[in-house]
Amino acid sequence: MGRIVITGGAGFLGSHLCDRFLARGDEVVALDNLSTGSVTNIEHLFGRSGFTFVEQDVSQFVWVPGPVDAVLHFASPASPVDYLELPIQTLKVGSLGTHNTLGLAKAKGARYLLASTSEVYGDPEVHPQPESYWGHVNPIGPRGVYDEAKRFGEAMTMAYHRSHGLDVRIVRIFNVYGPRMRPQDGRVVSNFLVQALKGEPLTVYGDGSQTRSFCYVDDEIEGFLALLEADTTGPLNIGNPGEFTVLELAELVLEVTGSSSEIVHEPLPVDDPRVRKPDLTRTRAILGWEPKIDLREGLVRTAAYFRTCLGQDPPA
Ligand SMILES: NC(=O)c1ccc[n+]([C@@H]2O[C@H](COP(=O)([O-])OP(=O)(O)OC[C@H]3O[C@@H](n4cnc5c(N)ncnc54)[C@H](O)[C@@H]3O)[C@@H](O)[C@H]2O)c1
Repeated sequence: MGRIVITGGAGFLGSHLCDRFLARGDEVVALDNLSTGSVTNIEHLFGRSGFTFVEQDVSQFVWVPGPVDAVLHFASPASPVDYLELPIQTLKVGSLGTHNTLGLAKAKGARYLLASTSEVYGDPEVHPQPESYWGHVNPIGPRGVYDEAKRFGEAMTMAYHRSHGLDVRIVRIFNVYGPRMRPQDGRVVSNFLVQALKGEPLTVYGDGSQTRSFCYVDDEIEGFLALLEADTTGPLNIGNPGEFTVLELAELVLEVTGSSSEIVHEPLPVDDPRVRKPDLTRTRAILGWEPKIDLREGLVRTAAYFRTCLGQDPPA
């Protein structure tokens, strides 16, 4: 049992983390400026003992009164639509926000977990991507604001570990999906599910042969908890190693939703990675963690959530 600070606590992953720690019996302090998150993700927790929400921009000075056992830094715009709209805020929360929250962890003698990303590998020349791969990132392209902020965050986290002896963990998160993603967040799973449920065409960028791996949120959260408890700084990849082309994903979405939408193609965004799949060798050896929910089952659960968001009845 402990007292856990979660930045980005009103976001997709942050809100699931709040639920999970409270269920485990911990206290949770969620910090969020609500830029891409929403109180609807955590309103079921308001009034629950052990839960506190503070509306705060963590790119500004951060202080939390009382003891803190762990700081989990998850605040950051995360979908390409969001970070391309909020480029400077993204750079700030990955750099200043990481510095501020590391400072909080140091002052409290708390463990620190940084939410990094598979985007640190950029458009990878090594496949699948092991943690030892240094990446292939264009620093001045539009996506650089996110990728470089996360790379800086990793460097700052390791500097606090080496200089101040801070007890740190770094997780490189691959694509996660599940309930509480925003219908309009621009991520490929939400795009396809919402388009399919509305009977609109599914937009595939390029020819759809680019690959991604998708991890259901419950699996991912268990991986974060395992890493927090493990005796390693990481970085460790946490994601689902099942690799699908974007076109295969579109076809599976049509199947699980029973939609008759057509598939249309649009130009590829700049610096869109061709392939993406975690090498889990280290993660398996250190954490013994393995995702359990396959893509079809995860899509069924996520489609049910989006049906509710869209005010649609469940299928007969
Ligand atoms: N979901 C994924 O597939 C994925 C993949 C790789 C990495 N990540 C990382 O996981 C973390 C959470 O992502 P998510 O998918 O839950 O995104 P999200 O947008 O749903 O959540 C991010 C939260 O951070 C908050 N936030 C942003 N800037 C802030 C600031 N300056 N101060 C306080 N709060 C701020 C937002 O309001 C939001 O609630 C991010 O750091 C992201 O980079 C997510």
